[in-house]
Amino acid sequence: MPYLLNAWYVAAYSEEVTREPLARTLLDIPVVFYRTETGEPVALLDRCPHRFAPLSLGKLDGDDLVCGYHGLRFGRAGSCTHNPHSPDSIPKNARVTAFPVAERFGHVWFWPGDPARADIAQLPAEFGFLDEPEKYRNVKGYLHVKAHYQLIVDNLLDLSHAPFLHPHFAVKGMTPEEQLRAVTAKLVRESNRITAYRLRSGVPPNRPTVDIFGFSQDPVDSRSHMTWYPPALLYLDIGTCVAGTPESEGLCMPAAHFITPETERTSHYFFSQTRNMRIHDPEVDIQLAKVFDTAFRLQDEPMIEAVQSRMGAATDIFALNPVLLSADAPPVSARRLLDRLIAEEHGQAPASAAE
Ligand code: FES
Ligand SMILES: [Fe+2]
Repeated sequence: MPYLLNAWYVAAYSEEVTREPLARTLLDIPVVFYRTETGEPVALLDRCPHRFAPLSLGKLDGDDLVCGYHGLRFGRAGSCTHNPHSPDSIPKNARVTAFPVAERFGHVWFWPGDPARADIAQLPAEFGFLDEPEKYRNVKGYLHVKAHYQLIVDNLLDLSHAPFLHPHFAVKGMTPEEQLRAVTAKLVRESNRITAYRLRSGVPPNRPTVDIFGFSQDPVDSRSHMTWYPPALLYLDIGTCVAGTPESEGLCMPAAHFITPETERTSHYFFSQTRNMRIHDPEVDIQLAKVFDTAFRLQDEPMIEAVQSRMGAATDIFALNPVLLSADAPPVSARRLLDRLIAEEHGQAPASAAE
């Protein structure tokens, strides 16, 4: 399955793009990122058109990038600005692709498709919480996952795995099956997104909510609503409030999970988990970082990689006829919508892999 090209993908956290060239492969494309002297991000194909040296091995001269092999110099728009071997003549084809790039929500974004369609305002406004540090304290991380990006999306759109794979999120005294039964799930499909709503009402809070935020064992309403934007941006609305009270008065932990394919079998995974309580307590940062590191790096990542490995040469799990459970409805719907968008981009009828 080809990638969706007319879409924004996260390339890096803002602080990773500096005055030192940063090499990163995105959607099988080698890209070099850097900042101009005034701080604007630049994204160029990381392959010099002369002898194909990675331009990321070169260095910056003002806003230009100088190839480290024979010194051709390229501007931020990709054209060659200087040829030290014949200063009066720049070969016509001495240029590299310059990709649309933008900065928003603390991340640098990359657009691999038609530059005329790249509009950063298309990013979902839900991610605005990432720009509100005085309201939401952020604990963030990055994982390099050896799996197809859709397997990571599937994992996030089906949180029914949590009671089994993440026992540290358990509710004290409830079996995984009892925890599942306490959830009311709803799937909402829209033309440009899919939301898997999960609400657990009237049961005690889970362990981190008690241990870190001091909730009592009184019944709470706890939500974990996941919204997916194609191809792989996820907004997670997690929160816990005393049963029957307004959500906004309780613990709100909006999160962003941004997945970018690196290759067909490897992915960049950027996650930001925020909170509206105890935001000035660095001890809570440490505790939450540990909780999420356990869940994402020590539990989700090895499981997803093991799944990819069991799929052999395949990267599309639906081509292997998996058994489907009720909890698979959100990932199946997301795959259908993504198939349709990719097919439209290629002027074809959608593939029916997820029928
Ligand atoms: S490979 Fe870049 S100048 Fe020769
Ligand atoms: Fe998980």
